[in-house]
Amino acid sequence: MKIGIISDTHDDIENVRKAIEIFNKKDVQYVIHAGDYVFPGIVLEFKRLNAKLIGVLGNNDGEKGLLLKAFLEIGGELKGELGEIHVDDIKIGIYHGTSTEIKKRLIESGRYSIIVCGHTHKREPPGVEKGTFHKDTSTLVLNPGVGHKKTESLAEAFVEGGVIILDTESTEYNYIDLP
Ligand code: NI
Repeated sequence: MKIGIISDTHDDIENVRKAIEIFNKKDVQYVIHAGDYVFPGIVLEFKRLNAKLIGVLGNNDGEKGLLLKAFLEIGGELKGELGEIHVDDIKIGIYHGTSTEIKKRLIESGRYSIIVCGHTHKREPPGVEKGTFHKDTSTLVLNPGVGHKKTESLAEAFVEGGVIILDTESTEYNYIDLP
């Protein structure tokens, strides 16, 4: 099964539409959003998605009630701060990444084959366009970087990002750039 991964879309409706186009073209069954939608209305854009949206809350997601409402309206699932899904016998944990301590503990727990994160605005694993994960032996952290358009910043915090397509059958993932 194919799963799309995106995070930190921060109100960028154009990039969200581009990402949805990619996800629909790749025929993904689920899209995991690792949080930081910011404006709840952006979730409604995912109506165009031919897959189920599963999300967790980020540190910039204050309007939890409205976000939940938007998720329900599109038939999606908002998990709270921490989520997990089981697909093809693979356990995937979902956490925005607000606390590095919690992220570390989740990785070390050995509970998941994959942990999907966002928040750092950096890709994890860094610079890898295509890779594989190991179902039983280790935990792979997948972070697609920012979903919104890249802008210059002094901290270079918004320079990296796109979407990830994960294939749970072939155990491959690949990264696709967004503007
Ligand atoms: Ni964040």
